[in-house]
Amino acid sequence: MPNHIIIKNKIKSFDKKIGISPDKSISIRSILLASQAVGVSKISNLLESEDVLNTLKTIKKLGINFTKKGGVYKIQGFGVNGFNISKNTTINAGNSGTLARLVLGLLVKTKFKVKIIGDKSLSKRDFSRVIKPLKIMGAHIKSKDNLLPIEISGTRFLRPIEYNENIGSAQVKSCIILSALNTPGITIINSKVSRNHTELLLKFLKYPIKIQKKKNIERISIQGLNQFKAFDYTVPGDISSAAFFIVLTILSENSRMVIKNVNINKSRIGIITILNKMGGKIKLKKIKNYNGEKIADIYVKSRKILKSINCPPSLNSSAIDEFLIIFLAAAKAEGISKFKDLGELNKKESKRLDLAVQFLKLIGIKVKRFKNNISITGNPKLKLSGNFVMKDFLKDHRIFFLSCITALTLGGKWKINDRDSIKSSFPNFLNILKILGAKIN
Ligand code: S3P
Repeated sequence: MPNHIIIKNKIKSFDKKIGISPDKSISIRSILLASQAVGVSKISNLLESEDVLNTLKTIKKLGINFTKKGGVYKIQGFGVNGFNISKNTTINAGNSGTLARLVLGLLVKTKFKVKIIGDKSLSKRDFSRVIKPLKIMGAHIKSKDNLLPIEISGTRFLRPIEYNENIGSAQVKSCIILSALNTPGITIINSKVSRNHTELLLKFLKYPIKIQKKKNIERISIQGLNQFKAFDYTVPGDISSAAFFIVLTILSENSRMVIKNVNINKSRIGIITILNKMGGKIKLKKIKNYNGEKIADIYVKSRKILKSINCPPSLNSSAIDEFLIIFLAAAKAEGISKFKDLGELNKKESKRLDLAVQFLKLIGIKVKRFKNNISITGNPKLKLSGNFVMKDFLKDHRIFFLSCITALTLGGKWKINDRDSIKSSFPNFLNILKILGAKIN
């Protein structure tokens, strides 16, 4: 199969109920925590994407066995720091920053040295944000220029710290929380609000973790060296994957969609708040509590007119993976939309802020960039014709998804390279588009 797709036609109107792929952040966390529980955990509806499969391979390399039967993964844990590590272990985190950063937290007491490597994109990403707090806790870490490969060797002399996490990165926060499980005493993180799945899962497991919220800072206290029992868990749907279908529906003609059982954790639904401020009229129905998280069905329909937005930076973290597709909505909105303080976008699988500016220019949209702020002059009448070849935007799944949704809503003849990139987060993406009637070759 070629590693590109061709889209030559806009999608016709649709009215469908769909399920979305399981949440990537929660899938990775449920595996890593099951590897630290006492007993056999059973995880259902795990996302079977490369990032998650690499997480399973990682725990296996660290001596944790698992089996899969009838869609349920059974993971045999031996408690916190219960890895059975052999000499010269290398972990390949592939494309996943979440896996690489979170597993470092679990390895602070490793018996033998472990080396972490990753793919080309991950090898360009900066790890100083996790190396710094782990070293303050006493971890032994070696890396050149804070990049992969990273070697971590265990220490028995870990100390609890109080750390101010001011990037708003859930990967950093979670890395420290996981290392705190191995650390005597109470570790405290004063964290700028970011996705809180690690905390919710630990609370669900009755682990002694306390969270106090003051404005946009969360003070998280973790009591180290406690054990927790194996658990049963079903992963909810991923709002970051649903995001592309929400915008597809809003920008398509006479269409409606219901997306079932999507995780609507407050720290993730910035996209809904932003699109609704733009006149999106997205509704959440059948809201339920779900293993410490919340889920809902998302109802969305086409909107003829969207308004521009002056996006409050307080929403940045809860929409951090969705800005690319939000920019497409802004490109079709009336007026000038403004987004600020988005430097973190350039630290993702690719330099997404730089690429977003290039992409919007490619489709004829006026964009102004000043440092990490951008303004997008929308054109509600925007229609595309002619040929578009997406070959310069390599190895970022979300750039691939953005290109497909643009082609299907705005037209033009598109050749989109890097079909394989979808495997990291959403292998089922193209199948769902086909169910909705999209013609993709
Ligand atoms: C993630 C956190 C976010 C997000 C990433 C997944 C996680 O990264 O962009 O796709 O699962 O913790 P940061 O924590 O670096 O913002």
